Formats: sequence, structure tokens, C-alpha cells
Amino acid sequence: MQKRKIVIGNLKMNLETVSMRKQYLKDSENAFNKEIFENVNVVLCPQNLYLESFVNFFKEKNVVIGAQDCFWETYGAHTGEISPKTIKSLGAEYVIIGHSERRTLGETDEEVSKKCSTALRVGLIPIICVGYIGQKEDETLAISDSIESILNNVSQEDLKKIIFAYEPVWAIGSGKTPSVDDIHTVVLYIKKIIGKKFSSEIIDDISILYGGSVSPENISNIVTQAHVDGVLIGGVSLQAERFAKTVKIINNLLKK
Ligand code: 13P
Repeated sequence: MQKRKIVIGNLKMNLETVSMRKQYLKDSENAFNKEIFENVNVVLCPQNLYLESFVNFFKEKNVVIGAQDCFWETYGAHTGEISPKTIKSLGAEYVIIGHSERRTLGETDEEVSKKCSTALRVGLIPIICVGYIGQKEDETLAISDSIESILNNVSQEDLKKIIFAYEPVWAIGSGKTPSVDDIHTVVLYIKKIIGKKFSSEIIDDISILYGGSVSPENISNIVTQAHVDGVLIGGVSLQAERFAKTVKIINNLLKK
């Protein structure tokens, strides 16, 4: 049986007023009207303050909710941090960790790894972003460092729950994407690192996504030729209709 694809919308720090959120939910009401996606798992990650309202709204729509970051402790004296336990108890199921927009603010592989372990411990599915952000000489080196640091701290069983997202920084919001061959090369590279550390048998259980300027226009090529398990979408997820359209294209491709 073919593996279900995963489509994640990262709304980032947008829909910044209550009326914008209201409009987005209204647009989603039409765009996701009673859709059944038999081949795709859809996840939307709004700002943390909207987690509860999104969980309640999207419950009936086959869309699950995730956060965009979390802290590595579950409670205590950590002013301003977001507990993964709270995210989970609000009904969200996923959390993006280590997005390049956070790494450029100074987030390290070690912090990403700690956040990943705690997210797993409370039952959230971590979506770990990897990609070159300019501090390392070469992209593969940056990716292997990020992944190695996580692999050192998780069991094989937990590793299977993690989703990796390859997001080259230059492709984010630029309208440019790597060639499908280049994406495939990195997907294979990530699998190789994991296979070497654990066993090659588990590689197919791990989901590796691509993110960076994904749109309804380029999604077919990416899904069919880059051999990814899904996509992480920024800009397009802000337009409920175009986001739903992208999901539908993938769902239909897999029906064939
Ligand atoms: P864009 O789809 O806007 O390029 O953003 C990608 C991204 O950063 C998703 O996390």
C-alpha cells in the first residue's frame, strides 16, 4: 500500500488580528468543506495563541493542528516559553522544531534536539526542519550535524515518529525551488545518515518532506519526481483556497 503523504501549512506569524483569523476560518469553511483526503494527512500550524480555536474549528475537516515551536521543559520558571505539554493538552498533535527562521535567531542543534525529545515525551509529533542557513561551508554538513544531534538522543522507536523537512533557506518565500533531482538527492542523503546510525530497514518508516516555495503550480512535479513523503508550505497556506487546492492535487495524484 502506498504511504500517505503529509501536507503541513506553516502560517508563521501571520493572521495577526482576530478579524484576519475570522476571515481565514471563513475561507477554510468553503475550501475544506467536508473534504475527505484518503491519501493525505493535512496539518496546519497557526500562531500558538490560535491553537485552541483552530483545533476546535478544524476538528470536523480532517485537518489536524500543530504549533510552530515549543520549549524543552514542560513547566516551570521559563517566562514567555511555550510548554509542549500545553500544546498537546490543547488538542494539537504536531510541532515544528528548528525552522530556519528560528535558527537564524540563534537556535542551535542542541536546543532543537532537546525540544524534539521533550515533544516526543509528551506525545507530540516533531517536524524537524533541516537546511543550510549559512554558518556551515556546505549544506550536507549542516544537515548531517542537525540530524546526528537528534539521532544521538532518540530511540529507534521514537525516531519513526519524527518527520524531517528539508527546507533550503534560499527557496523559502523566494518563488524558487531546487530541481526535483536536487531535492531527491538530499532526501536520499538524509536516509543514508539515518540508515547508517540505526538500520536501513527503518528508513522507509521515516517521513521526509520538502519545503520552500511550494505551490499548486509546482506540487505535481515535486510529489511525483522528488520522491518526498510530503511538503511543508508557508506562503500558500495563508490562502485557504490555494492551500486546499494543493492538498487536493496531491490526493488526486495518489488515486491514480
Ligand atoms: P514558503 O512556502 O513561503 O516558501 O515557506 C516555506 C516555509 O518556510 C515553510 O516552513
